[in-house]
Amino acid sequence: MSHTGDYPSKVKIVDVGPRDGLQNEKQALEASDKIALINQLAEAGLQVIESGSFVNPKWVPQMASSEEVFAGLTRKSGVTYSALTPNLKGFERAVQAGADEVAVFAAASEGFSQKNINCSIAESLERFAPVMEAAKAASIPVRGYISCVVGCPVEGRIAPQQVSTVARELLAMGCYEISLGDTIGVATAADCETLIATLGKDIGVEKLAVHFHDTYGQALANILRSLQMGVRVVDSSVAGLGGCPYAKGATGNVATEDVVYMLNGLGIEHGIDLEKLMAAGNAISARLGRKSQSRVAVALSAKEDG
Ligand code: HMG
Ligand code: MG
Repeated sequence: MSHTGDYPSKVKIVDVGPRDGLQNEKQALEASDKIALINQLAEAGLQVIESGSFVNPKWVPQMASSEEVFAGLTRKSGVTYSALTPNLKGFERAVQAGADEVAVFAAASEGFSQKNINCSIAESLERFAPVMEAAKAASIPVRGYISCVVGCPVEGRIAPQQVSTVARELLAMGCYEISLGDTIGVATAADCETLIATLGKDIGVEKLAVHFHDTYGQALANILRSLQMGVRVVDSSVAGLGGCPYAKGATGNVATEDVVYMLNGLGIEHGIDLEKLMAAGNAISARLGRKSQSRVAVALSAKEDG
């Protein structure tokens, strides 16, 4: 039972740390480090793990080892190991590697679309069409990301209507879910309210996931507001890893540990073991030579140490 009727009884968490987090790390990690992280996340109870990205390795060298990563996973049954695919070439690589699910990614702003994927929004949708077709033939579910749903590093404020237009196109093409990316972490709870109200009306709240980067420290408040408005799927990143190589100053996603702690407090079911999750986050942070960016992990680890 959730704490009050204002919240869902159950939430699905998508851990994007191994992709969104590690794509942005200056320090190159071995495939074996990534494999260990993903296996630990699965053991901690995560049911969807975005495990890599099949983009041009010249653009994002950190993800060049995604084939090796997928090949080395200890697959846990019931876990979806997903990957980002920008075009048909990426989709073919993902299928070959054994991804269970893929995600295409568009932007709500033209400026960011050019910067991130080197084409206009309309061109990006054209590139996704053959991916959608091939995915349908192979029975692989496709998630659709939209970046810059509230603010864009190039264009500033983005109107919810712009997001809605792209969301409807992605759904019409066959995406089963739309993940709303606050790429530069500028959204407040008020922005979420307006955005989710608009999209809820246009496409239905059950189709939405939220993907907050915590650059301005608003992510947990935004998630709480999103849950109150009916959202049931939350993206987060173990240890708060993350950022976007094409959005200067963008920091990590909200930390999965912090989301889990909040959901525990609200009595919302999620299926994740916080201790094991923290161990995974602390291990990858140590590997990167720094402290976890999860406030909960830092606080609980200090308690254990002290
Ligand atoms: P392009 O340069 O315009 O592509 O890149 P192209 O079709 O002209 O091809 C150029 C070269 O790339 C060719 O090789 C292709 O074969 C190769 P060459 O002939 O020069 O040797 N190529 C590929 N190689 C491997 N795998 C592929 C692939 N595609 C082309 N899939 C492209 C277009 C989209 C590929 C490029 O811009 C790219 O890779 N961008 C990466 C963008 C990215 O990964 N951004 C970060 C992820 S998005 C994100 O973080 C946001 C999100 O978290 C939500 C949020 O927070 O908002 C999802
Ligand atoms: Mg992101």
